[in-house]
Amino acid sequence: MKRPLVELVGTGRYTPTKVLTNADFERMVDTSDEWIVERTGIRERHISGPTETVAAMSKFAAVQVLEQAGIGPLDIDAIVMGTASPDRLLPSSACDLQALLGADNAAAFDIQAACSGFLYGLTVAEGLVTAGTARHVLVIGAERLSTITDYTDRSTCILFGDGAGATLVRAVSDGRRGILASYLKTDGRLAELLYRPGGGGCHPPDERLLADRGYFIKMAGREVFKAAVRSMADACDQALSQAGLTARDVDVLIPHQANIRIIEATAKHAGMPMDKVYVNVDRYGNTSAASIPIALDECVREGRIREGSTVLMVAFGGGFTWAAMVVRW
Ligand code: UT7
Repeated sequence: MKRPLVELVGTGRYTPTKVLTNADFERMVDTSDEWIVERTGIRERHISGPTETVAAMSKFAAVQVLEQAGIGPLDIDAIVMGTASPDRLLPSSACDLQALLGADNAAAFDIQAACSGFLYGLTVAEGLVTAGTARHVLVIGAERLSTITDYTDRSTCILFGDGAGATLVRAVSDGRRGILASYLKTDGRLAELLYRPGGGGCHPPDERLLADRGYFIKMAGREVFKAAVRSMADACDQALSQAGLTARDVDVLIPHQANIRIIEATAKHAGMPMDKVYVNVDRYGNTSAASIPIALDECVREGRIREGSTVLMVAFGGGFTWAAMVVRW
C-alpha cells in the first residue's frame, strides 16, 4: 500500500435555505412525486437565492475548514475550485472566493471536470503539496446548477440542486492518515451526451441561443445513466487495487449523488452493503462537484467517518469524466 503523503483536514458545507420539493415540480412541469422518487430517489433540492453565489457559498464552507485546521486565510497557498456553474465565465470563481476570504497569498483557479471536479481538485492539490509548490491547499466543490437548469425540461430540472463543500489538503502529520489512492479518467468523445451547447466560443450568446435554450444543461439521461454505472464501477476497482485494499477494508463509500439507482448499482458492483454507503441524494438532488464534499462533511459531523476510517469516494460526470479516491481519515 502506498504511504500517504498528504492528508485531508477539516470539512465544511453550505446549502441554500430555499428548498424545491417534488410537489413544487408537480406544479411546474408534467411530473409526479412518485416518478421522481422511483426513478431518482430525490425528494428535495436546495436552490440558491440572489446572494448565494458560488463564491459566497464556498466561503461559508471554507471558513469551517480553516477553523478546524487551525489556520487563517493568509496561510492558504492555493485554492482549487471544482465547478461547472461558475459565477462568471471570467475570472474563475476561485478568484472571487480568494478575494472574499482575504486569502491574499493563495493562487486560485477553477477545475471544470463537472461532477468529478472535487476528486480532480483533490488530486491536483495532492500534486501541489507533494511537489512542494504549496503547503495548504483549500479544495472546494461548489455549484449553482439552478442558474443553468432549464425549468421547462422535466427530464433534467427535477435532478439538480445548489451547494458547496470544502476540505484542506496538506502534508501528512503522522503518516497513518491521508490519500491512499487516486484514479482519474476521461472520455471526451461522449461530451455531447451531457453538455451546454451554447454560451462559449463555439456558439457565443445570440438570439438563437436564447430561443433554443442552448444555454442550459442538456442530457441524454439513459445513456449517461449506463455510462455512470459502468464508469463508477471501474473507478472503484482501480482505486481499491491501487491502494492494495478490497471492499471489505472500506468503512464508508461516498458515491456522487446523482441517482439512487446508480448509487445502488455502484455499491453492488463494489461489493459494499448499503449500510456502508452514504446517501443524501433524497435531500439535495445532484449538486455535481459539490455532491461529494457535502456528503463528506455530513459523514464527519455525524460520526460515520472517524479517525482511522477508510473512505472510498467515487464520481462520474459530464465530459465524460470519472474518478475515485481512497482516503484514510
Ligand atoms: O451527475 C452525473 C450525470 N448525471 C447522471 O448521472 C444522471 C443519469 N441519468 C438518470 O439519472 C436517469 O436517466 C434519469 C433520472 C435522468 C431518467 O430516468 P430514466 O429511467 O432513464 O428515464 P428515461 O429518460 O428513459 O425516460 C423514461 C420515461 C420517458 O417517457 P416515455 O418516452 O417512456 O413515454 C420520459 O419522457 O420517463 C419520462 N420522463 C418523465 N416522466 C415524469 C422523463 N422525465 C420525467 C419526469 N417525470 N420528470
